[in-house]
Amino acid sequence: MSQNESVQMIQPPAEFVRKATISGMAAYQALCDEAASDYTGYWARLAREHVNWKQPFTQILDESKAPFFKWFADGKLNVSYNCLDRNIEAGLGDKVAIISETDDGQVRRVTYRELLAKVNQLANGMRARGIKKGDRVIIYMAMGIEGVVAMQACARIGAIHSVVFGGFSAQSVRDRINDAGAVAVITTDEQCRGGKKLPLKPAVDDGIALGGCESIKTVIVNKRTGGHCPMLAGRDLWWDDVIAGQSDVCEPEWVDAEHPLFLLYTSGSTGKPKGVQHSTGGYLLHAVLTMKWTFDLKPDDIFWCTADIGWVTGHTYVTYGPLACGGTQMVFEGVPVYPDAGRFWKMIQDHKITIFYTAPTAIRSLIKASDTNPATAPSNYDLSSLRLLGTVGEPINPAAWMWYYESVGGSRCPIVDTFWQTETGGHMITPLPGVTPMVPGSCTLPFPGIQATVVDETGTELDWGKGGLLVVTKPWPSMIRNIWNDADRFKRSYYPDDFNGKYYLAGDGSVRDVHSGYFTITGRIDDVLNVSGHRMGTMEIESALVSHPMVAEAAVVGRPDDLTGEAICAFVVLKGARPVGEAAKKMIKELQDHVAKEIGPIAKPKDIRFGENLPKTRSGKIMRRLLRSLAKGDTVAQDVSTLENPAILEQLRGN
Ligand code: WT7
Repeated sequence: MSQNESVQMIQPPAEFVRKATISGMAAYQALCDEAASDYTGYWARLAREHVNWKQPFTQILDESKAPFFKWFADGKLNVSYNCLDRNIEAGLGDKVAIISETDDGQVRRVTYRELLAKVNQLANGMRARGIKKGDRVIIYMAMGIEGVVAMQACARIGAIHSVVFGGFSAQSVRDRINDAGAVAVITTDEQCRGGKKLPLKPAVDDGIALGGCESIKTVIVNKRTGGHCPMLAGRDLWWDDVIAGQSDVCEPEWVDAEHPLFLLYTSGSTGKPKGVQHSTGGYLLHAVLTMKWTFDLKPDDIFWCTADIGWVTGHTYVTYGPLACGGTQMVFEGVPVYPDAGRFWKMIQDHKITIFYTAPTAIRSLIKASDTNPATAPSNYDLSSLRLLGTVGEPINPAAWMWYYESVGGSRCPIVDTFWQTETGGHMITPLPGVTPMVPGSCTLPFPGIQATVVDETGTELDWGKGGLLVVTKPWPSMIRNIWNDADRFKRSYYPDDFNGKYYLAGDGSVRDVHSGYFTITGRIDDVLNVSGHRMGTMEIESALVSHPMVAEAAVVGRPDDLTGEAICAFVVLKGARPVGEAAKKMIKELQDHVAKEIGPIAKPKDIRFGENLPKTRSGKIMRRLLRSLAKGDTVAQDVSTLENPAILEQLRGN
């Protein structure tokens, strides 16, 4: 998007605006003004109106230990009460809470009353095993009703869950158990994705066998397929046995607003993934507000967020947000291209989905699929139930945005391009669907109350039109509270001294449009890659590579990819001779499998190149900028005069 000309804005459809919860710029501005004139009063008002408190708070924002901020600290509440009981008390007991569809197309529905009973039985069963408030519980499960039940059951008893995406390896499970000091794992025998059965419980066993998991006393296994699943007596229990005979009534554990609701491990630029710690009260508030304002959720909506519960999107917009608002939502076990690339459209048609939220990568792959096989195109399906579309996880290119708008939304549905992060808990910069004129590729303006801006390296605010670092200038209720076991890393990552600890540093570059002030995200400014909307640290992949006995040194960079946004490209120096031809091919496959084993298949480098060395400066620093150019296939026009060993560039250029 050119910063010098005014861009074409797409107005929210009048029909939508008429019924929208926040309808029009005046209403948006009024909220922003309220926050500007009385920041803490604004959040306190919303927290009183949108969350049920067992004990009302009197404190709002506590900055005394900044940047370890506290919100509503003397209030007490329970998230599962807010998601389940309060809806039933409001007369929604027989409303469908979740419609689930399995990979092979089986549909189940649970009402709020049924869901509460399931949560309470599991919560009671967990208590019977001695699991209590503050204990950490790893959840490594298939997408389905039980995954949501497991998370809600933890919230019910004040246990802190840490969900591990089912696509991560045994080693990753082990690392998270170990870092979190978890006492229990809740898992599934096997998950089904794209017609394949993928073992989960066996990976838990393999992870624990790697050592350092002595804290685990209980493994609860939900039976999904009935496949091969060895059980260890005394430690492993079938889910059905855990809930057998348990009451469907369970008094919630009333916790402080600052009690950690969950940890979620995510990649940073250095070291192992970090355990992002979220709060109870502030987090829940933002989940509710964004459901109501960004998604305009109404009682008759059927909401579908396609994210897995292993990601933060699946926490806020599957497990917590929709339920806390008494909504009906779809939960899907499978993948968008199975049995064919019309799966999403068929499900929207079958279940009359009204609000649909997915990732740009999925959109791009479905565009490609419908070009090659027109029978899977959205035009073959009745998508007239849709009224709002959303996207998240990575920048969406304008062409994909237009296709989503026209071919999926029939030019009738606003698109909310929601920028946020694991650390932010919920949407930060996003259009509101009844308010904000849209610009394809821009996440537009901050959510009411969020104070975002763009600064240079010294922390000086930049004029619109100038690219810089995205920061948030004031603490907000759903923000990350800490990194588990690593408060220093929390400070260094998000409140660096460069800005006197004043601003939250998102880790993304951004530029604001000169005319509208709209934000566009220009990508990560650290060594974090975004592959298909999945966040991967380059250092993490490098450590996985060098843990292979044949690898002497490795450097990983991203390169632009039409489908996945970024692709992982690894430059590797082996111990011994540099392989060529068939030997190189064999080694590439071996290293890809090794990374899949260490981290998970999503971290496999797409491109691996071997050199006798890596390009380094005379002081021995790997020249990553150069590697990025090589990865892209650019002719290296950069100044290589500081390069110690220019000859190896030829080897690393690839084919
Ligand atoms: C990173 C956060 C937030 C849930 C999923 C990802 C990128 C996210 C957008 C967007 C451009 C986006 C950023 C961010 N990102 N949403 N709408 N436009 N970029 O959560 O794994 O914590 O990744 O995803 O780079 O920092 P995450």
